[in-house]
Amino acid sequence: MNSFTIWNPTRIFFGPGADGTHGEAFARAVANLGKRALVVSGGGSVKRLGHLDAVIDLLKAAGVTVESFEGIEPNPNAPTVNKAAEKGRAFKADVVVAVGGGSVMDASKAIAALLHTGEKDIWPFVTGQPKAGQLAGAVPVAAVPTTAATASEVTPYAVISYYEHHEKSTLAYDFLKPLAAWINPAFTTEVPKATTADGGADIISHAIENYLLGGSDSPLADGYSETVIRTVVETLPKSLAEPQNIHLRGRLLWASTLALNGYQTAGRNPAEFVLHSMEHALSGKMPNLAHGRGLATLYPSYFRWLCDTGRAPDRLAQLGRAVFGVTEVSTESAAAATIAKFEAWLKECGLYQSLESLGFAAKDYDGIADYCVKVYGKDGQLNALGAMTAADIVAIFEGTFRQA
Ligand code: NZQ
Ligand code: ZN
Repeated sequence: MNSFTIWNPTRIFFGPGADGTHGEAFARAVANLGKRALVVSGGGSVKRLGHLDAVIDLLKAAGVTVESFEGIEPNPNAPTVNKAAEKGRAFKADVVVAVGGGSVMDASKAIAALLHTGEKDIWPFVTGQPKAGQLAGAVPVAAVPTTAATASEVTPYAVISYYEHHEKSTLAYDFLKPLAAWINPAFTTEVPKATTADGGADIISHAIENYLLGGSDSPLADGYSETVIRTVVETLPKSLAEPQNIHLRGRLLWASTLALNGYQTAGRNPAEFVLHSMEHALSGKMPNLAHGRGLATLYPSYFRWLCDTGRAPDRLAQLGRAVFGVTEVSTESAAAATIAKFEAWLKECGLYQSLESLGFAAKDYDGIADYCVKVYGKDGQLNALGAMTAADIVAIFEGTFRQA
């Protein structure tokens, strides 16, 4: 096994609590982080459902003074983040509480960093921009995730878009990790079907990226990742059929937290998150594309590209045997069977489509691929067990055409 380091500082409250007191306990945890909370939320769903007010009431009861910022977009736009930070600064917020999906949690982290530094614009600090890596700290963040998808409630990442430039990029700092999270399946029962499916595709991606490219030195990480992936593969179709089933929602939500907390890769070789790099370039170009939908669209074509270029067929074969009941004996036929089963599962979940059907035009692929390797790559290329050039990325985009 390789060496690794993991730091998971998030105090997690899962579910309502045996006696329904996790909300109060979470609010007390927030009160220990700060006394003036900027509570950040999205475009209105979470407010309409009463979740936002429920959290605000709990915070107030715990002695926290609250200011609210509503209106973070899916794929949060940097100018909106800046506006929220301005409001937080005027309010003298000393803690930021996110109530929403990954977009709200990511925006909250960026806001927390701006509040700490006194900077007014987050965009220059994201990967690929002039001040990348130069943030010095953040006020504490707490999170109430309302989607099962990103694991942002425990990750050091914030993914920010800049609509005007058609760009999307990341912040990654340990000090952005939320210090408290109330992970309550009851907040996710009204997530629409398509968004639920998108989230499932995202959870799998977090477990699968390094599984495929990180080698086979860590059987524990493999078993952990396979369990997370199998849980989503088995649970998502059931949850789509029974959206109100809280047990199924709970499994997806906890799988999402576990998929990106560091344990999923521990002991394997480090490897780039190339699916994420490609997807972020796509949803940067088209901000109304949900992250999970973009990933789902890329999976089959990416898997085929891996096999066609002789990369990691053994890992695809192992995945199929562990998760999809693949029984083919040779590595090549087992890998091919895995891809076929994965495609069938995507179809079952309504996640099977081409980039064209999502509104992308083939003439834009070169530009999107160039952006991808420029921002996320080194020397003009990504690394996926060897060079992954802009031409490879275009080929993967083009390979989605058959998923019409
Ligand atoms: O905006 P509102 O009206 O609140 O509606 C949202 C939004 O339209 C809705 N929603 C959220 N919770 C709901 C709900 N609707 C009903 N009931 C609820 N309980 O869902 C829609 C999508 O929300 P969003 O937050 O955008 O989705 P998701 O959680 O998938 O987050 C996606 C963002 O996270 C980034 C993605 O790139 C994307 O920007 N990621 C963040 C990561 C991280 N921080 O570690 C890692 C991921 O790989 C990912 O890149
Ligand atoms: Zn993701």
